[in-house]
Amino acid sequence: MMTNLAAVLPKARQEHYAIGSFNVYNYETIRGVIESGQEMNLPAIVAFGENYLVNMDVSDVAGIVKAMTARHDIPVVLHLDHCKSYDHIVQAIRAGFTSVMFDASHLPFEENLRQTREVTRMAHAVGVSVEAELGALAKGEHSNEEDAEQIYTDPTQAARFVRETDVDALAVSIGTVHGMYKGTPKVDTGVLKAIAAEVDIPLVLHGGSGTPEEIVRECIRLGISKINVNTEISMYAVEQMSALVSGAKKPHLSQLSLSEVSYVKDVVKKYMSMFANV
Ligand code: 13P
Repeated sequence: MMTNLAAVLPKARQEHYAIGSFNVYNYETIRGVIESGQEMNLPAIVAFGENYLVNMDVSDVAGIVKAMTARHDIPVVLHLDHCKSYDHIVQAIRAGFTSVMFDASHLPFEENLRQTREVTRMAHAVGVSVEAELGALAKGEHSNEEDAEQIYTDPTQAARFVRETDVDALAVSIGTVHGMYKGTPKVDTGVLKAIAAEVDIPLVLHGGSGTPEEIVRECIRLGISKINVNTEISMYAVEQMSALVSGAKKPHLSQLSLSEVSYVKDVVKKYMSMFANV
């Protein structure tokens, strides 16, 4: 069944677990995420970022996700990840995305608030959930995201932002990075605690890759209900596939495609299990 963030995340925040959101860019990654959810009997959030519009069109993503979801019996959220363009948001919704992240976090606070409120009003009119972001994550290693300076989310601004935009979930910046950590992660759970005291909607942690399990658990206990993972899935699958193609007997491309699905599932299932059992 296709569903949205508003239907699955509030329960996660109340009951202190999180739902993983995993980035997809092709048939194999989509299949890896949905089959992982089915095998673990957990909801799957299939996240397709605006960055990857060069890989796939939103209507192709929606077509594959809808067809696969119909063959399974878990809730599936088709979520547009990190999107700065209003036009792309509208195109994704029209194609059948059930959820969108409008990311105007690079804009001044008042402008982020104003634009996010407009997107939320339009998306809610057609039953689509909205995630927004306040603050900015730095970029670690091997990430496909843009470079950015770390800016922690301000708890007081977060309270006003959520009240005035009516978003369904808020991505916060507390020290995780997009990509792999360069040294020891410096996650400030004090900032998260202060945000959670001001904001009662589900909170989202970006930069899940490589975040130590004890930090993940603490964040979930403090109100994180959705955790995004991208880089680690890509790194692991590419490493494993490199080993396969550098062997003496070259695999057939169809075999390589099946291996890719299986490597994606290895990482997705590890994180699904960590996020569900706190
Ligand atoms: P990682 O690449 O660090 O896992 O972050 C993913 C993410 O936050 C996508 O929105």
